[in-house]
Amino acid sequence: MDKLAITGGVRLQGEVRVSGAKNATLPILAGALLADGPVTIGNVPHLNDVTTMIALLVRMGVDVTVHDGMRVEVDPGNIQHYRAPYELVKTMRASILVLGPLLSRFGEAEVSLPGGCAIGARPVDLHVAGLQAMGAEISIEDGFIRARADRLKGAHLVLDIVTVTGTENLMMAAALAKGHTVIENAAREPEVVDLANFLNSMGARVRGAGTNRIEIEGVSALGGTDYNVMPDRIETGTFLVAAAMTGGRILVKRTRPAVIEAVLAKLRDAGADIVIGEDWIELDMHAVRPKSVDISTAPYPGFPTDMQAQFTAMNSIADGVGTITENVFENRFMHVLELQRMGADIKIAGHSAVIHGIAGLTAAPVMATDLRASASLVLAGLAADGETLVDRIYHIDRGYECIEEKFQQLGALIRRIV
Ligand code: EPZ
Repeated sequence: MDKLAITGGVRLQGEVRVSGAKNATLPILAGALLADGPVTIGNVPHLNDVTTMIALLVRMGVDVTVHDGMRVEVDPGNIQHYRAPYELVKTMRASILVLGPLLSRFGEAEVSLPGGCAIGARPVDLHVAGLQAMGAEISIEDGFIRARADRLKGAHLVLDIVTVTGTENLMMAAALAKGHTVIENAAREPEVVDLANFLNSMGARVRGAGTNRIEIEGVSALGGTDYNVMPDRIETGTFLVAAAMTGGRILVKRTRPAVIEAVLAKLRDAGADIVIGEDWIELDMHAVRPKSVDISTAPYPGFPTDMQAQFTAMNSIADGVGTITENVFENRFMHVLELQRMGADIKIAGHSAVIHGIAGLTAAPVMATDLRASASLVLAGLAADGETLVDRIYHIDRGYECIEEKFQQLGALIRRIV
């Protein structure tokens, strides 16, 4: 099992290029199932989760060609069946995103229930309820969602909870449904907007993505397209926090500053000097220790839950006391146990972590438990005294492309031990 060995104490300096967004690529790959012709998707990150989604499409008989590592061509014309098996879904819960497109385009789908995951129960009841409201007949038995519909009908949907993939699944289902669909209390994440732009480039009629009310006029067919995925805002934020923790100065390129305002505001509160351009962000910490910040996670445009673990690591070495409250998932503090093993002074009280910053963490062997928790352990290792070994980094490979190479570009002493 691969490990990352990190020797801390280096101020990060230099430039790094951000990859395409994992959480835009996954729904867009699923959305390609809706097309009548071949779809080409560019700026695709080379990540394990993307490989899993491609494997799922290929398993169904969809023709997928990966060109020069970052462009993927998808043609669902020869699809053989509409089943997403447990052995793939259990490794990547975002497989649920094929449910809406399969049902809307082919009238049937059989998708394994994702099951729980480390950060929470993460049910898909809102996905199912929305599709039923659109006329799908759905049964859930022996761990599978079995769905059928002659043709989905437009409906007025009100989501009880803001759900990103729930919004995406229902938006894709509505694209080929008969009539008008409204999704109230929709997720406003930039990746939802990216998916809507992708669907509209195929001829869909989606309006209002990025607001909490999305309207979709169903059409009879969607054509092929050539679409580039947006940059990854969480990868961007992860590198910026790494520079803030090590007192460094970095330039993050090929990103989109406008979609991480909440993260940039907190980094400025921590004392970082930040300059932004159209597709780049420069952070300079002037070799100063960050100040503690208070964080409360929320759906977009609030502070993203996917950046919570990284800021927990930063608060661990910051000057002061910071409180971090996780409002989106019920069990997303597992990185705290590992940070405590490195000397962090963190107390959990319900959904909050109160963190008394200490001058320096101590390197230790630690274990990743989920994608963003593993990223926070890498950041902690970069700021710790000594060599930190992060185990089970298959978690990190799910969501970060070439993470050690990118950190090496910034001067970090990090290497993969296979
Ligand atoms: C997406 O997950 C992201 N994944 C997650 O990123 C991200 O943390 C999350 O949104 C929140 O921003 C992808 O986009 C592939 P939700 P998703 O449905 O859609 C509850 C990462 O690290 N809920 O918005 O699964 C749910 O339990 C990953 O890249 C229901 O109760 O999250 C949670 O408490 C981790 N019923 C809340 O809603 C449902 O049917 C928000 O979850 C659906 C969700």
